[in-house]
Amino acid sequence: MAVKKTVKDLLEDEIKDLYSAEKQLTKAIPKMAKGSNDPALQTAFRDHLKETEGQVSRLEEVAKLLEIKPSGKKCMGMEGVIKEGAEALEEDGDETILDLGIIGAGSRVEHYEMAGYLTAISLAQRMRATEVVTLLKASLSEEEAAETKLRKIAAGLMKTASN
Ligand SMILES: [Fe+2]
Ligand SMILES: [Fe+2]
Repeated sequence: MAVKKTVKDLLEDEIKDLYSAEKQLTKAIPKMAKGSNDPALQTAFRDHLKETEGQVSRLEEVAKLLEIKPSGKKCMGMEGVIKEGAEALEEDGDETILDLGIIGAGSRVEHYEMAGYLTAISLAQRMRATEVVTLLKASLSEEEAAETKLRKIAAGLMKTASN
């Protein structure tokens, strides 16, 4: 584990963590799209996959600005959240109910990412790294929008779900 003495040391660690999380998601989101039944939900995941690929590039840009390497750490938290998501994909039952479970897993992913970006943004703000803040905020907005979209789809599915 790296020795952390400065705000920059911690920011470096947070960027590595986010980078690992986004990389893991580029592999996990296609599975969530494939495992979903509702066409709108599939589209939402596929759209967010494209955004996720852009977020990976953004983090590479951030790393360049900070003169650090984005790789070298595994985000264990995201690994766990993705594992839970994989469980939701393996269940049997009513399609709508299963989709609602998948949305729950997706929502957990987005909240986990938001926490990471919010942390990194406040550290970058403290460093007055304005370009870094702008890049991170762009990704944060995409995570927030993705989560809102999932909740909207869930509300629609809820109308037809049997109690
Ligand atoms: Fe992301
Ligand atoms: Fe996301």
